[in-house]
Amino acid sequence: MRPDTFQQTSSGHISIGGVPVSTLAEKFGTPLYVLDYDTMVHRMQEYRNALAQLQPAGWACYAGKAFLCRAMVELVAQEGLGLDVVSGGELYTALQAGFDPKNILFHGNVKTAAELRFGLEAGVGQFVVDSLDELDRLNRIADEMGRTAPVLLRLTPGIDAHTHDFIRTGQFDSKFGFGIGDGIADEAVRRALAAERIQLNGFHAHIGSQILEGDPFVANAEALMAFSQRWHQMAGFWPRILDIGGGLGVRYTGGEEPPQLAHILRRIQGLLTEATPPGAAVPKILMEPGRSIVAEAGVTLYTVEAVKTVVGGKVYVAVDGGMGDNIRPALYQAQYAASLDGKPESTPPSAVTVAGRYCESGDILLSGVPLADPQVGDRLIVWATGAYNYSMASTYNRVPRPAVVVVRDGEVSRWVERERWEDVTRLDLPLNARKSVNA
Ligand SMILES: Cc1ncc(COP(=O)(O)O)c(C=O)c1O
Repeated sequence: MRPDTFQQTSSGHISIGGVPVSTLAEKFGTPLYVLDYDTMVHRMQEYRNALAQLQPAGWACYAGKAFLCRAMVELVAQEGLGLDVVSGGELYTALQAGFDPKNILFHGNVKTAAELRFGLEAGVGQFVVDSLDELDRLNRIADEMGRTAPVLLRLTPGIDAHTHDFIRTGQFDSKFGFGIGDGIADEAVRRALAAERIQLNGFHAHIGSQILEGDPFVANAEALMAFSQRWHQMAGFWPRILDIGGGLGVRYTGGEEPPQLAHILRRIQGLLTEATPPGAAVPKILMEPGRSIVAEAGVTLYTVEAVKTVVGGKVYVAVDGGMGDNIRPALYQAQYAASLDGKPESTPPSAVTVAGRYCESGDILLSGVPLADPQVGDRLIVWATGAYNYSMASTYNRVPRPAVVVVRDGEVSRWVERERWEDVTRLDLPLNARKSVNA
């Protein structure tokens, strides 16, 4: 739940990466996203080392949707991971940061013609194709450009991972991928093999996010292997790559117990070796972790701006951020834990509701969270906000998005500047900015 470098003094003062959060708040203002460098690197190394144990060695591609900016791309490259992007904007960010396009997976259930062209032009490593329409479009555009598109097909294996409905993707009724159960996946393979400009390299399935059991990952690999075996028997096609997606859960409130990656991979290795047909090569396993790399590395610092007791005695603690910097509680009832800086353990906590500043009654960051004597001016730390917070942030109510800083060994690096009011109005045009569409 907390970054690996978390420390707290007996007076309750908290530091991360050797930097007191009070210093960060004073120097950079609040709300502020803070990421711990060591935690991110440790998590990347865990994936790298665990996947290296597989035969043949597997590979992790960081899912940029969890958190992406230029410096993050550079860190991913430095640690030897690939990158999963889902839009032209993410691909552009990666290329601007000098990321090797061969190490990019281009994902997303909608890729426009312009995005497919951009991906082909850049030479991305694999397009993960999500629909027959996309497959046909990619083949046509690759033909126009005189290129061949390397492809993985995204399959939905019918696996029900126990997670929130909005972050569950592996069941048959999903907007993502080709259903194995309804024959559409077979049609996709047939078309991909027949398409002149498509090089089919393998299959992908991502079954959901914040998964706290190992079994669904093994079942996913099993389903991909069974599908591959069928195609080997039917048409002699055997995949070089099986991409089992991301989805490993993290500790948000301390009650969660994520499964051991190494244990999951040992089980997967067993079934890969067993199920590969004689004479065929064991496919390379790819994974696409996002949340499990960055969530616990990150915290958000807020300042308490008001404390209110309403009828019935319920206490609202209002902070200077909210759903604009963390939409997850409003979007899918995500739970977090929080602490107040400088409140010693001995201060008795009481359960309060932490409310955001945005004009929505649903802008509640935490409900029933124990906080020790919250007062105006206190610094509130919400834990494990590194994933799907900055990347999902908005400027609702024209509130500028917070800065992102990274702490390491007592030093701070600025990764993303704080937006200003001028940034929020930068693209606005005046009332009389009309232009004839025929001009
Ligand atoms: C295709 C795909 N891969 C990887 C991920 C990353 O998942 P997580 O952040 O849970 O590891 C997602 C998340 O939605 C996804 O859709």
